[in-house]
Amino acid sequence: MAKGKNTAFFCKECGYESSKWLGQCPACREWNSFVEELVVKTESGGRKPLLSGEHRPESINQIKTSEEERSKTGFAELDRVLGGGIVSGSLTLIGGDPGIGKSTLLLQVCKNLTDAGKRVLYISGEESLQQIKLRADRIGTFSDRLQLFCETNLEMIEQVLKTEKPDAAVIDSIQTIFHGDVASAPGSVSQVRESTNVFMQIAKTQNISIFIVGHVTKEGVVAGPRVLEHMVDTVLYFEGDRHASYRILRGVKNRFGSTNEIGVFEMCGEGLREVKNPSEYMLNGRPEHASGSIVACAIEGTRPMLAEIQALVCRTNFGMPRRTAAGTDYNRVNLLMAVLEKRLGLKMGEYDAYVNVAGGMRIVEPALDLGIVLALISSYRDLVIDDKTIVFGEVGLAGEVRAVNMAQQRVNEAEKLGFNRCIMPEVSMKGIDGSKIQLVGIKNVFDLTNIIMKH
Ligand code: TYD
Ligand code: MG
Repeated sequence: MAKGKNTAFFCKECGYESSKWLGQCPACREWNSFVEELVVKTESGGRKPLLSGEHRPESINQIKTSEEERSKTGFAELDRVLGGGIVSGSLTLIGGDPGIGKSTLLLQVCKNLTDAGKRVLYISGEESLQQIKLRADRIGTFSDRLQLFCETNLEMIEQVLKTEKPDAAVIDSIQTIFHGDVASAPGSVSQVRESTNVFMQIAKTQNISIFIVGHVTKEGVVAGPRVLEHMVDTVLYFEGDRHASYRILRGVKNRFGSTNEIGVFEMCGEGLREVKNPSEYMLNGRPEHASGSIVACAIEGTRPMLAEIQALVCRTNFGMPRRTAAGTDYNRVNLLMAVLEKRLGLKMGEYDAYVNVAGGMRIVEPALDLGIVLALISSYRDLVIDDKTIVFGEVGLAGEVRAVNMAQQRVNEAEKLGFNRCIMPEVSMKGIDGSKIQLVGIKNVFDLTNIIMKH
């Protein structure tokens, strides 16, 4: 860029600002993420802002709150992730890879909201009206209360929002929106930040619930949603394998509810469909009487989820054994294999091991440890574990099986899906009611071998 102009360098990943170019961002440790952008400083003309009568610090007990007003999105899965529905005047960011289904989800939310009598404005900077209509035709029939507007100029959008005053609005996507006064290109850190700031103000002052779509971009000049995370009220990430049909909506930040909640959806011909019982979905197509397969119970947010863990342990042909972990933490798998080698004397060093959480979901909860260990032993010894058995528990370095939280919920979920035996940490067994299921408490991995041997 030309000399003499006021420029600064921004990290594309986290928005860190620096006056010089840096190879590595000191804030997020990302390499080669700095881009130069123009910054325009506005002159305040030397006037100082003055405190007016109303605007003073107030005592905390004098502040009145009202129960925040929430509207249902028509998707129970989304409502739960949002903490019970859309809070009016909130700003929500939905991030995700391109093509994952963000526009589809939001268009369906628009349909549900307008069907419930709300007025919604869908602003698209990416697609033409015809393209949106084509997608809408796949989803169903819409009410006239949904209005579409194709625009990328921030000031135009601001005017439209202020004159139309819808109950909710969707901005698809933030990376296409630009403000004429900001010199850098649409999608750059300063543009994206400026636009988000404006939307935040509109949301709060006009009481419009606004959803912003943000594409996750690893490479390229476009600033990702991470830059905005701290500016918005709620951050949701839409993830999943593009080749598999299920999608997971994960709450990362929520000023109006808890995070860690997930919602599960499935992409079908008519848009997204909720998956009310993900455990059943995850266990679809499970092999029968196969060694190295076991069902484990993990907790995502407040809800238990069963997943099949598969392990394949076979003799290595090279000096260096190969290990892979799909759907779970690779280092954790290595650690558990070291525990098995040391505590149970299994010669894992001579074997390749492949561990997979079937169903394509990524689960990194410590409670999965015992499942991984069992699957590994089962494959190593080529022993089949009874397929009505479920397992959960954390494994420590000494081979001890440690307590996990929410044991009762896990047992209940297993019962619900027809399992009849639950292998769990002995310390978590106190007070657990499992009338229809046999509970087997274990203290360490030695007990485990006794349990599988019997079958
Ligand atoms: P889209 O919502 O456009 O993704 P994003 O906005 O996150 O980029 O979703 C695009 C994908 O979803 C596309 O590959 C087609 C698929 N899809 C279906 O399978 N069924 C449907 O009913 C719709 C509307 C889309
Ligand atoms: Mg889209």
